[in-house]
Amino acid sequence: MKAVELKKDVYWVGALDWAVRDFHGYETPRGTSYNNYLVLDDEITLIDTVKYDFADITIKNIIGVVDPARIKHVIINHIENDHVTSLDRVMALAPDATIYISDKGKRGLERFFDLEKWKIKVVKSGDTLCTGKKTFQFIETPMLHWPDSMVTYLHEDKILFTQDAFGQHIASSGRFDDEFIAEYSEAVLEDAVVDYYANILMPFGQMIKMKIAEIEKSGFEIDIVAPDHGIIWRQNPGKVFKTYLDLANGKANLSVAVIYDTMWQSTEKMIVPITEGIREAGVGVKVIKLRATPTSIAIKEFWKARGALIGSPTLNNITYPSVAEYLTHLRGLRPKNRLVGAFGSYGWGGGAVKEIYDEFKRMGLDAVDPGLQVLYKPSRKDEEICFEFGKNFAEKVIEYHNKF
Ligand code: FEO
Repeated sequence: MKAVELKKDVYWVGALDWAVRDFHGYETPRGTSYNNYLVLDDEITLIDTVKYDFADITIKNIIGVVDPARIKHVIINHIENDHVTSLDRVMALAPDATIYISDKGKRGLERFFDLEKWKIKVVKSGDTLCTGKKTFQFIETPMLHWPDSMVTYLHEDKILFTQDAFGQHIASSGRFDDEFIAEYSEAVLEDAVVDYYANILMPFGQMIKMKIAEIEKSGFEIDIVAPDHGIIWRQNPGKVFKTYLDLANGKANLSVAVIYDTMWQSTEKMIVPITEGIREAGVGVKVIKLRATPTSIAIKEFWKARGALIGSPTLNNITYPSVAEYLTHLRGLRPKNRLVGAFGSYGWGGGAVKEIYDEFKRMGLDAVDPGLQVLYKPSRKDEEICFEFGKNFAEKVIEYHNKF
């Protein structure tokens, strides 16, 4: 796809990755895009590059607008592989360019490339770059989501280039929010934002709130938010800030995600009465079987619901492997403001439910004790107990939800 103009003399020159379905373990059913931007002025600036495999595409897009040899400045907002691994290909065509990068970014970039051959300028929050009639201003955003991360504001055009923040894994010919919404829907876009936030930004809620406050305090007017993945926000850029603040403040649906796996369908047989109990309490429920669902989707569903019940059979006195793997993944994302519980079947001796509660404790999650275990296969009596377990848990979720 050719370059797309955001505003006069400001172009998207990135690449669409329609085919990717596994983005370092993250399920991407809509593919993704690697966005980078070219700004024409007396001196020409490139903001970010793309994943190595797409170097030819961004170079072609740049050449479609300008001779790359005329690029004087290359701003690197983030050094993860999907944004810098074509930097040497671009720099080979722009030998006079200076790279602008945070201090931690430079230290990371040294692990990718020999920097001796390039001019590098380390920048910090508040530093500016004037290219003639336009001025860029840098704002460091460490741990949003890597230590090196920063965003760049283009004053005259009121564009905030945000690297991964405010992105979504979407490949679409419509490069802007209004175009995507017209082709699909606002709900599909919102779901993509929540998916991306849950799987990438969940641990960094406090930093998100701080940085949004800092940007608002700076008084920057923002017409366009231009992330490094997915669609560009021009219709209502304030809305994505609001969505992020809501998510960082722990916004969730009054519902329960039942996330489980099963060995001989005994734990699975507990699901129907448990979900009936949840519904009896007037709470919505969604059931996710782990070996039938990509981990990133199970993470998103956990994050969307105020409560989660984790179900696992006991295997060799410990948690079933797919459930243990999921919980490890979840722990790394440091979830907060969710109420959890656990259930499962066992044969010779329990173990899984206790281990899951230990994991909840490590995560610092609020849990409803003591969980529910069923010997071998649920009997009719056990099904009644499962129903009450689901109902009691959902009632506690309602109380918990009302605190937010
Ligand atoms: Fe899209 Fe943190 O890389």
